[in-house]
Amino acid sequence: MIVKPLVRSNICLNAHPKGCAKDVENQIEYILQKKKSRAFTEKPKTVVILGASTGYGLASRITAAFGYDALTIGVSFEREGGLKKSASPGWYNNLAFDACAKKMNLESYTFNIDAFSEEACDTVIEKLKSLNKKADLVIYSIASPVRTDPESGVFYKSVLKPIQQNFEGNTIDILSSKFSPVKVEPATEEEIQNTVKVMGGEDWERWIHKMQKASVLAPQVKTIAYSYVGPELSHAIYRNGTIGEAKKHLEATAKTLSQYLSQSVGGEAFVSINKGLVTRSSTVIPIMPFYISILYKVMKRKNTHEDCIAQCERLFAERLYTGNPIPVDENGLIRIDEFEMDPSVQEEVAQTMKEITEENLYELSDFKGFLKDFYTIHGFDVDGIDYSQALERLDQI
Ligand SMILES: NC(=O)c1ccc[n+]([C@@H]2O[C@H](COP(=O)([O-])OP(=O)(O)OC[C@H]3O[C@@H](n4cnc5c(N)ncnc54)[C@H](O)[C@@H]3O)[C@@H](O)[C@H]2O)c1
Repeated sequence: MIVKPLVRSNICLNAHPKGCAKDVENQIEYILQKKKSRAFTEKPKTVVILGASTGYGLASRITAAFGYDALTIGVSFEREGGLKKSASPGWYNNLAFDACAKKMNLESYTFNIDAFSEEACDTVIEKLKSLNKKADLVIYSIASPVRTDPESGVFYKSVLKPIQQNFEGNTIDILSSKFSPVKVEPATEEEIQNTVKVMGGEDWERWIHKMQKASVLAPQVKTIAYSYVGPELSHAIYRNGTIGEAKKHLEATAKTLSQYLSQSVGGEAFVSINKGLVTRSSTVIPIMPFYISILYKVMKRKNTHEDCIAQCERLFAERLYTGNPIPVDENGLIRIDEFEMDPSVQEEVAQTMKEITEENLYELSDFKGFLKDFYTIHGFDVDGIDYSQALERLDQI
């Protein structure tokens, strides 16, 4: 069968196995090239990545494995492929990652399991114990709209809403390139709390505590979760909205986790503020398709644009493993969003936001680049793949 993208409401419902595999290989190739020019003073050896199959988590896993020769354990929750049923892209990415790791004699273990469950923690702990290994880096890169609390069994749903104000803006329809107005009412108190339950630091803390109690964390272990700050113009819906509350909770959790780890194993916990990029989670945030398209245009012109793999490569080489204490800002946060937040970039983006229309969209913004990334993360529009070739089955890469 010929596989074409099925896009509804800015969400791509299927994925191309060969395109996903090629995209993973391209990211690996980027890391292998970069490796040649980096001098390594420190290296992670055993890395657990929660949310390892796409976006920042996948890029972190590729960096740890192919850049630092680390053993990686990846946890993600993806739809499996069937003979004629498309998997979600992360499922193909995992197959591709494991195949490439095997070729290069890198140890990798991948679990497709709900990370919010006790079972997932137990599975990873058991694996580490059976290998007689302790994790020296734990990356928490889960982005999910829902979570079942394993203790209470309560199912929580997150919302993307402003707090105590309306949000009005535009988003771009991916299929038609038409602008559509978005109006979002303020979240209720319950919706705010539910979003914090899903995307805040509670689950990260649970993982670290369980792993520590099971003695599978190495001395001086590092753990990192990812967050986003972004520009003023997104603050109403992002930083000052429900998701922002969750991120503030995540950032506060890093502080309590750091204390806990320093007392128990001499370890540290951090939040890294990353750049706004096209991932499966970010394209559904109102305003982001707009903002990212304009941002890409400005940053590509200034030659400061990075994708997930470039961000993670720099995070490891210039922040986490330099042989020196990890550099942080005045709030204790690792920053790899400094090129995005450069005032000259932000001024230009803000100005363009005022001028952009459906007519000048492709001229004033890099919507073309946005679309390319959107399709690429689902395995479509990947250079070197012949999409006219029929696939026999969709349960393999
Ligand atoms: N995309 C951006 O622009 C951006 C910018 C800065 C920070 N971040 C942060 O980076 C982190 C990762 O986001 P992303 O954009 O890479 O998202 P993504 O959608 O590409 O990845 C999410 C990952 O979480 C996994 N996942 C979801 N639910 C799960 C569950 N129940 N159990 C196990 N795994 C589960 C998915 O399988 C996937 O591997 C998030 O904290 C996000 O806020 C993203």
